[in-house]
Amino acid sequence: MEDGPVNLREFQELAKRNLPKMYYDYFSGGAEDQFTLRENVEAFQRIMLRPRILVDVSKIDMSTTLLGYNMSSPILVAPTGSQQLAHPQGELATARAAAACNTIMVLSFASNYSLEDVASTCSAVRFYQLYVRSGFDAFCLCFHCFITCSFEQFLQVFKRRDVSAALLQRAERNGYKAIVVTVDTPRLGRREADIKNKMIMPRNSNLEGLISVDVNPTGGSKLEAFASETLDPSLSWKDIEWLKSITKLPIMVKGIITAEDARKAVDAGVSGIVVSNHGARQLDYTPPTISVLDEVVKAVSGAVPVLLDGGVRRGTDVFKALALGAKAVMIGRPVVYGLAVKGEHGVRSVIKMLQNELELTMALAGCPTLRDITRNHVMINYERP
Ligand code: FNR
Repeated sequence: MEDGPVNLREFQELAKRNLPKMYYDYFSGGAEDQFTLRENVEAFQRIMLRPRILVDVSKIDMSTTLLGYNMSSPILVAPTGSQQLAHPQGELATARAAAACNTIMVLSFASNYSLEDVASTCSAVRFYQLYVRSGFDAFCLCFHCFITCSFEQFLQVFKRRDVSAALLQRAERNGYKAIVVTVDTPRLGRREADIKNKMIMPRNSNLEGLISVDVNPTGGSKLEAFASETLDPSLSWKDIEWLKSITKLPIMVKGIITAEDARKAVDAGVSGIVVSNHGARQLDYTPPTISVLDEVVKAVSGAVPVLLDGGVRRGTDVFKALALGAKAVMIGRPVVYGLAVKGEHGVRSVIKMLQNELELTMALAGCPTLRDITRNHVMINYERP
């Protein structure tokens, strides 16, 4: 792709040209005023770098491990749903690209391909993201119930937690190595672009089976209707204990942005924490993730690895997150933009581009290995003189 995009922002511009407006808005949008959406990116730009000179950087080693699994760099693929809206190969293409870049993909619960399909397309290390709710799996399991019971009964069954248990078992059977439980979505955030666009999944997508039930026709986005009937607002810390009791896989929680919750997560026995505000798609006016990383890392004090996502668009952003204590970062939208631009090849280019930028940043900052990156390599809250 010699004449192609030279940075992730250009991937976004190209994706915007390639995608129908409704889908581009769905991928790129955030909640309400989208204040946090902008801040997730801009907060990185208020952190400056403090490079060290005359360090031998003839060899740069970006390799690391997470939960004992090797990765070529500290950059993972975040779970994003409905990837077929970006490319027909959707999550299959992303999984292959992540494997080719020797990194870990977290497969979304709202994937268009089943976790079996994704497992059979690549044998690389994969994690599975779970919403503790039912979902389209439940639709299949409960179809009989749907046609024989009242609508209320159907919804009750639909929300039953044993659907989550069944998903965990399928993830285990299909070689997923960890469960990433998303904890910031008791209800769907208000994404006004989707409401305006009357966002709907295409007829042939997996999610369509569910949405065509038309569970709660509010006149707004179908996505919102879908979510309001399937997300589980009663989820609590007890459920994390329950999940731990029914799987041997390590459980990470995604969506923590305060020291208080980080301590609770450690007490609940999780194996890792993802500092995330869901790419600013849930509660607007939450702080940008990079600005709360420090407090979470301090609260956790090394008990478990802390990851970060939200607004990572440059190798320097990855470097800044590592300097402030993250073990690794995840990228969401850039992967989808890569998919929209050139399928599997596009996702590979996105991941490689970010890896190359990180490698160069480490060289220019005098850090031959990830261990060399310290808090002293960044200056936070920089203000223009
Ligand atoms: C998401 N995200 C998300 N998170 C999750 O836990 N389960 C999911 O199904 C989805 N789906 C999803 C769809 C789309 C289109 C986006 C943009 C995001 C959130 C995602 O995992 C991650 O937290 C953010 O995307 C990170 O921010 P950036 O990299 O997109 O700025």
